[in-house]
Amino acid sequence: MAGITNAEFLNKVIPYGFDVATLGGYSLDLPTIEASKKIIERGRAEFDFPLDEIFTHIGNEVDSIKKVHNDVKVSANVRSTTPQPIIDVGNIKDLDIVEINCHCRQNEIISIGCGQEMLNRDDLGDFISDVADNVKSEVSVKIRANVDGIDTLEIARIIEQSGADYLHVDAMRNGVFEADWELLREVCNNVNIKVIGNNSVNSEENIKKMINTGVDGFSIARSVISGNLDFNITNF
Ligand SMILES: Cc1cc2nc3c(=O)[nH]c(=O)nc-3n(C[C@H](O)[C@H](O)[C@H](O)COP(=O)(O)O)c2cc1C
Repeated sequence: MAGITNAEFLNKVIPYGFDVATLGGYSLDLPTIEASKKIIERGRAEFDFPLDEIFTHIGNEVDSIKKVHNDVKVSANVRSTTPQPIIDVGNIKDLDIVEINCHCRQNEIISIGCGQEMLNRDDLGDFISDVADNVKSEVSVKIRANVDGIDTLEIARIIEQSGADYLHVDAMRNGVFEADWELLREVCNNVNIKVIGNNSVNSEENIKKMINTGVDGFSIARSVISGNLDFNITNF
């Protein structure tokens, strides 16, 4: 979660039972950094690092987590208009996963072709392959489901064929406060890539629903902000 999930935050919540901790999202090139600044100007939290500091900063954050939780995989969720800065992050020492953000729906990010607008790129598969072929880390692609005009299943197949290791799906449904379990089930039944389900995991009941879709893992965002999870994820 932009502006929130730094190493200090993640070190506090990892003991709830997480085996992957995701830093970011970070903006990695001039257009995305400029977009982040505009988002901050209108009052939304974002990480704000200049181009000449961001890569060192991510490296230091990875070290801060690994120092305390050596057994946890560290991921960095990133946005960039071109693959190279994402490749540079994927080659940061000890970073386990670089996650390409095809998910953000803030207007400033969408208007430069990033975030969920990546799903409309004709070269989405080539973009991801370029990253996957040139990094030492694993590659995750985070998408938002049910975006107008986008066939989530077709996108899932493109991502599977691009050489990514994980497909991370925010199975959001507009106006509904529960994930689209049926869509997740369909994605899991149609691709072989590891699927990480996301959205509305905020109770034991929803964890069970999420696991029943067939996902290989699941992620939790908003419920950890409060630090008041009413369940222990190590039970699942
Ligand atoms: C304040 C806030 C900031 C977020 N920032 C990011 C981000 O930078 N990158 C990203 O992929 N998702 C981001 N998300 C989305 C969450 O990671 C997650 O996909 C979404 O909240 C649904 O999952 P949940 O129901 O567990 O919260 C953000 C969500 C919130 C509430």
